[in-house]
Amino acid sequence: MTKKTTPIQIEEDKTLDLALRPETWDEYIGQEKVKKNVKIMIQASEKRGEAAPEHMLFYGNSGLGKTTLAYLIGRETGRSVRVTSGPAIKKTGELAAILTNLTEGDILFIDEIHRLNKVCEEIIYPVMEEFSLNLVVGNGPMARTVDLNIPRFTLIGATTQLALLSGPLRNRFGASFRLEPYNQNDIEKIIERSASLLDIKITKESIKMIASRSRFTPRVANRLLKRVRDLAQVEDQDKITPEIAEKTFSNLNIDEMGLESGDINILETLIEKFNGGPAGIGALAAASDERKDTILEIYEPYLVQIGFIRRTSRGRVLTDKAYNHLKK
Ligand code: ADE
Repeated sequence: MTKKTTPIQIEEDKTLDLALRPETWDEYIGQEKVKKNVKIMIQASEKRGEAAPEHMLFYGNSGLGKTTLAYLIGRETGRSVRVTSGPAIKKTGELAAILTNLTEGDILFIDEIHRLNKVCEEIIYPVMEEFSLNLVVGNGPMARTVDLNIPRFTLIGATTQLALLSGPLRNRFGASFRLEPYNQNDIEKIIERSASLLDIKITKESIKMIASRSRFTPRVANRLLKRVRDLAQVEDQDKITPEIAEKTFSNLNIDEMGLESGDINILETLIEKFNGGPAGIGALAAASDERKDTILEIYEPYLVQIGFIRRTSRGRVLTDKAYNHLKK
């Protein structure tokens, strides 16, 4: 059965995303604790004259800026950032090719690192610790091991599912940083900055409206800003007003809490098929026709954050707050 995709998952226009990416620590809004500690790690390493800072792990919900942060570190330290992801590396040869092409001081960013397969994961341990790549070449009696030195680099791993990362992998990072959900104020600042970069005129009230529908996620906030801009452009308005914003949300079926049809589907499935819960994640995925990962990584974090779903030992339960919201 093909599973549904959600609007949240659709790939954004990469060029616009690049244009909006913060390029300095000052431009990067929020995540103050992470920023402070990452900067200390980098400065200390530079003071010691090391070729590359220690490996770092970023974890937190989807869209909170883990990739953005990796690029920012690259920019601020003048290093190249190579980007890949756990599921993209299928064979050890692919991992070896990536590693042997690194130059000293590079940053290797592995997104969704919890999805790296076991064989690749074991190869990466000595690479992280000793910058030594141990490969087996050939088969049967002809098989032999080859040890290659890899230039000193910084691995930045990112994951939405810290619990799925094995202990040995997690322990090989010099530090792990949790990216927190943003607050309304920070998201408003991010929208204001993006609007200014994209040369969009927008009222304060419209910024607030977009922020409160953004699921407190910069990626969603920027996507909504672009959709509201589309409507303003089509309607020949030179400024985004609350009316245009409201009309966009209504066209896109985004309610005042930022919920979209996929979220509503989860909430209604809990009511209609589980009498409000508790429902286990597997049963909820099957009944709602969504992938388990999508529920865990996209829908649930926000629904839990706004107090619409409670996670209990027996499964997910809908709260009174969610019932009241759906009744409106
Ligand atoms: N775009 C995405 N995340 C951002 C952040 N934290 N600050 C500024 N712009 C961003």
